[in-house]
Amino acid sequence: MILEALQYIRTPCRAEFRKLGFLHEAIALQARHKRLHSLWGPHLERCKELIRKASRLCPQHRQVIVLGSGILSEIPLDFLARQFKQVVLVDAVHLNAVHDQVAGYGNVEMIESDITGLAVQLVAMKRRDRELPTPQPSIPGLCEETDLVISANLLSQLCVGPLHYAVPRFGFSNEQYIEWCRDIIDGHIGVLFESGIRTCLITDLVHVERDREGRELKREDMLFGSALPDGAWIWEWKLAPVGEVSRRYSVTAVVNGFVNFPYPGE
Ligand SMILES: C[S@@+](CC[C@H](N)C(=O)[O-])C[C@H]1O[C@@H](n2cnc3c(N)ncnc32)[C@H](O)[C@@H]1O
Repeated sequence: MILEALQYIRTPCRAEFRKLGFLHEAIALQARHKRLHSLWGPHLERCKELIRKASRLCPQHRQVIVLGSGILSEIPLDFLARQFKQVVLVDAVHLNAVHDQVAGYGNVEMIESDITGLAVQLVAMKRRDRELPTPQPSIPGLCEETDLVISANLLSQLCVGPLHYAVPRFGFSNEQYIEWCRDIIDGHIGVLFESGIRTCLITDLVHVERDREGRELKREDMLFGSALPDGAWIWEWKLAPVGEVSRRYSVTAVVNGFVNFPYPGE
C-alpha cells in the first residue's frame, strides 16, 4: 500500500486524469496483474495471439496505434515493434514500468491522451449544469501511414473514469448515466469504423459472478446495452477468483476479439 501511494505521488499524470481516477486505476491494474498473472495467463496470451494475427493480415506495416496500451500486459510489444516501422501507444496514463519497457525501442512512441475528450469537459463542469458533456472520440496519432489500430480492452473501461468523477458530484439519474455511457461506447466504435483503417478490437462484454460451487449469481453488461456484431473470437477471462473482490463469489469476463472489426472471422 505504501509503495502504491508513493507511486501515485511520483508518477507524472495530468491533473484532470488524476481527478478521473486514471492513475489510481493504472496502479491497481499493475498490482492485480502481479497477483493474478498465472490465472490471467490464457487471456493475456489470447489477446497477444489475436493482435499478432491482425497484424499479419495487414498488407503494409507502416504505423500501428494501440489504444488502451495500459501496462502492456495484453500487447506483444516486441512483435509489433519488429513488424511495424512505427508503434504508437495511447493511454491516459503510462506508468514508469511502461516507460522503461519502451526505452529499449527506437520506433515506439507514447501518447498520453483521453480518447473520449471528456476529462477536460467534466473537470470544467459546474454542479448546476443540466447536461452531461458530449463525448469527442478520437484516435490520437492517426495519420496517412496508419495501417492498423488496436483497441486493446478499453471499450468497457471508457466509462469508468467519467462515472467515477461525475456520479458523486452531479445529480443525474441512472437512466441519464446509462445513456451517456452508451454514447461514450458508441462514440469509440464509431470513430474506429469511420477511420476506415483495419482495426483489431478486444473488449470484455459481460461480467459473470459465480459462487464457490460455480452457480451463477449475477451477470453485468459491461457495454451498457451497446451491441457488437457477431463473428468475434470469444473466450472467458477468469478475472477474479473468490477472495479477490468478494469472499462469496468469483468474477469471469466474457471477452470478444475481432481481427478486422466489425467484420467477422479470419
Ligand atoms: C483494461 S485496461 C487495458 C489493459 C492494457 N491493454 C494492457 O495490455 O495492459 C484499460 C485501459 O484503458 C485506459 N483508458 C480508459 N479510459 C481511457 C480514455 N478515456 N483515454 C485513454 N485511455 C483510457 C486505462 O488507462 C487503462 O490502461
